Amino acid sequence: MAHEVFNWQINRKMTYWYPEHRPGRQFAAVFDINKCIACQTCSLACKTTWTSGKGQELMFWNNVETKPWGGYPTAWDVKILGLLGPQKWGEDEYEGMTVFEAAPKGERVLQYQPEDGDWCNVNLGEDECSKVIEKGAYFKLPHDAWFFYLQRICNHCTYPACLTACPRGAIYKRQEDGVVLIDQKQCRGHRECLKACPYKRIFFNVVTGTSEKCIACFPGLESGKCNRCFETCIGKIRLQGWISTPEKAREDNPIDFLVHIRKVALPLYPQFGTEPNVYYIPPKQVDPVFLRQMFGPGVDKAIATYRNAKNDPELLGLLLLQGSSDRIFERFRVKNGMAIGYTAKGAEVVRVPLKEPLYVRPYKDVALDVFRHNVT
Ligand code: SF4
Ligand code: SF4
Ligand code: F3S
Repeated sequence: MAHEVFNWQINRKMTYWYPEHRPGRQFAAVFDINKCIACQTCSLACKTTWTSGKGQELMFWNNVETKPWGGYPTAWDVKILGLLGPQKWGEDEYEGMTVFEAAPKGERVLQYQPEDGDWCNVNLGEDECSKVIEKGAYFKLPHDAWFFYLQRICNHCTYPACLTACPRGAIYKRQEDGVVLIDQKQCRGHRECLKACPYKRIFFNVVTGTSEKCIACFPGLESGKCNRCFETCIGKIRLQGWISTPEKAREDNPIDFLVHIRKVALPLYPQFGTEPNVYYIPPKQVDPVFLRQMFGPGVDKAIATYRNAKNDPELLGLLLLQGSSDRIFERFRVKNGMAIGYTAKGAEVVRVPLKEPLYVRPYKDVALDVFRHNVT
């Protein structure tokens, strides 16, 4: 029987198969798209850690795809958006249907099963920009052609579509951290979860006959360690922590600060209705019409706030702390030109200066009697 639950990302009640139940604390992440260079270090860190076995060859629990043309599996978002039909945002809430509300009679979720071949092109469309660039157009500013990189892991949704679809009840959401896992002993390979996840973050293993997915690196997470794809990120675009609901947001909680206080980080396709817990700082050079469909109506304000970070020491400090430690910091503070991350009990984890110190060395090293080419 369907229940009425509250989804704060669409700012209204919606129907879900189970009653509203939020875990003790919820794993969450913020990815700053502006900093990503698509080096795929994250994808390979996850792959070498968790999916290097037989039957896992085409599995990328973390992948980075180029928008507008890329998508893994192929065109995953174009397909589900097409099925969902018009998605209209009102003044302060979503007025269209979620994937639960748009489900055909007899089904719990609006869904589709990707073709086998859709899993074979993980880097399709990589580095391709939105339109053909005419001769000389490179020099015209601002550029009207664009592309950006979208980093994707499981969203460990508050209302997981995968969980609601499994006829075996093999998928569960952990009370201690909100991580969504598949019980490998319960799974019989029905693949309803794969069909139902609108983000297509479930992968079928043909060797074991079961489905697998991002596990939020829970063995490390349990001891306060950052997940593999977070700690290895070269661009330092990733921040992980714990998110509160809007009414309980804390100014000193890094995730709450970016999502609820400054509202600079937004959920991916909030209109799907699963309340995903991975948030994105939208890319500032991209057509806002495209971004509004992807991240909702908060895009323009988020970009304006991000552009103003240089005048906002707290935001700037937190953006600099992002990716600066392999330990999770649950609190942060900016004081005396330093941004500092702390554990929940107040122990310092990491500190970074708001302004990098500049050292100027004499161009001639007298002791060695040599000239330096680089003096700063
Ligand atoms: Fe399930 Fe997909 Fe949400 Fe992950 S992103 S919890 S696989 S519905
Ligand atoms: Fe892989 Fe861990 Fe990143 Fe999930 S959080 S995509 S399991 S490295
Ligand atoms: Fe259930 Fe998905 Fe396995 S639907 S049985 S968890 S493949």
